[in-house]
Amino acid sequence: MNVLVTGGTGFIGSKLVDKLVNRGAQVTCLLRQGSISNPAAKTVTGDLIYPDFIIPDEEFDVVYHLAAAWPGEKDKKILKAVNYDGTVNLFSLLKDKAKFIVYVSGLGVFGNPGDIVDENSQLKPNTEYAKVRLEAQKYLESSCKEHGISFSVAFLGDVYGNGGWFKNILVERLKKGSFRMPGSGEYYRSFVHVDDVVSALESIAEKNAINQSFVIADSTPVRFKDFVNVVCKELGVKYPGTIPTILAKAVMGGDFINLLTTSIKTSNAKIAKLCDFMYKSYTEGVPSTISEMKS
Ligand SMILES: NC(=O)c1ccc[n+]([C@@H]2O[C@H](COP(=O)([O-])OP(=O)(O)OC[C@H]3O[C@@H](n4cnc5c(N)ncnc54)[C@H](OP(=O)(O)O)[C@@H]3O)[C@@H](O)[C@H]2O)c1
Repeated sequence: MNVLVTGGTGFIGSKLVDKLVNRGAQVTCLLRQGSISNPAAKTVTGDLIYPDFIIPDEEFDVVYHLAAAWPGEKDKKILKAVNYDGTVNLFSLLKDKAKFIVYVSGLGVFGNPGDIVDENSQLKPNTEYAKVRLEAQKYLESSCKEHGISFSVAFLGDVYGNGGWFKNILVERLKKGSFRMPGSGEYYRSFVHVDDVVSALESIAEKNAINQSFVIADSTPVRFKDFVNVVCKELGVKYPGTIPTILAKAVMGGDFINLLTTSIKTSNAKIAKLCDFMYKSYTEGVPSTISEMKS
């Protein structure tokens, strides 16, 4: 299988690239100057904001589009430039080379659903960040249709594992005593271990699950405070103090805190039919991740 991955140097993308390479796929990573990817992958150096780079003239069975600016990015121009314009630029470089594009997004596009979210739930983003992500998704979906390219979208829950926000924002700050719980922590979140995200993304391609959407989260939505409590117990640190959400927004950005503090519970019934989750619940995944971090 010939695969192109954008965001292949990031938390999720690097693990996806490792797994694809180990499975014998031919992998090309799009990365920015100075970033490093798995040495077994071919690389294309380029920034999605400036499409002045060339993607090799090959046919890619699958393109995983993970590159994105994160919701903590406070500069709205950068958010749009990377997450929307970057997607448009990518498509213009790939439209004659891709057979199937898998767009990786998040649950923020469902807004504040109030009900269990699944693939049939309404997309109703209520942050600038998620609005731009949805515009990019719609652009890709319609452009793929127009060009006869298969398209699917993966809506990821909050992805934890040995890296990303879980390590850098939660674990490191809990260890230093500098993490503060935004608001009450009573809001529900849907988590998923990074290894299960990688398996799910792989299964979508392997099983040719084209022109579909998937909610990718584990089977156990949980209040954020209960999740953090388990992390604290595993780390052997005290449960953190709280910070009013208004102050948290000033520090971390309004969109990031709005996304985090919105209750969201998901059903993973559809993706669970396509692949087996290693960690059905954070109660298994968090201890395993913390022990991996300690070793
Ligand atoms: N982590 C989560 O909990 C979570 C939850 C829901 C959805 N998602 C989605 O999953 C995807 C991957 O998330 P992640 O946590 O792995 O992100 P990440 O660690 O922040 O990685 C972001 C990736 O995007 C690349 N990138 C950023 N700007 C770029 C640009 N202008 N041109 C080319 N590449 C650029 C980065 O490359 P460099 O190495 O050059 O910086 C990096 O490889 C994102 O689309 C994210 O929205 C993540």
